[in-house]
Amino acid sequence: MGNEDLLKIAKNARIRSVCPLSSYAVGAALLAKSGTVYIGTNIEDKVIMSLSNCAERVAIQNAITHGDREILKIAVVGGKKESNYLDNTVPCGVCLQYMLNLDENIEVIFFNDGEVCVKKVKDFFVQPFKLD
Ligand code: THU
Repeated sequence: MGNEDLLKIAKNARIRSVCPLSSYAVGAALLAKSGTVYIGTNIEDKVIMSLSNCAERVAIQNAITHGDREILKIAVVGGKKESNYLDNTVPCGVCLQYMLNLDENIEVIFFNDGEVCVKKVKDFFVQPFKLD
């Protein structure tokens, strides 16, 4: 599964976004070590805002729910709900920490000014929190 393919799947997942609070739709698609791809989208809760969840964590928890705990890479795309234009969306700090806790070598694939970029989770941090 190539990076461009994973980005395409993330774009499709983005269509399912539920984002009444921000109108910002995000899609994520991850490749597990098993070869299976799992998707996620951001799901906001308009009654209790803190119940909202990011696309990346939804995708990761989708994989874990299916028994796939080893993640190789995750593609992320985001932009205004009604627009086809994709921003330079990278995972938020919470999602990066969540991924770091699973495996610091997970590769994050994202668009930056239309270019496909790949960066390991650990390379987003200046001084990461770790238990060990
Ligand atoms: N969001 C994600 O789902 N992933 C990111 O990488 C950045 C932000 C969501 C959270 C919220 O629903 C909306 O995008 C605006 O912040």
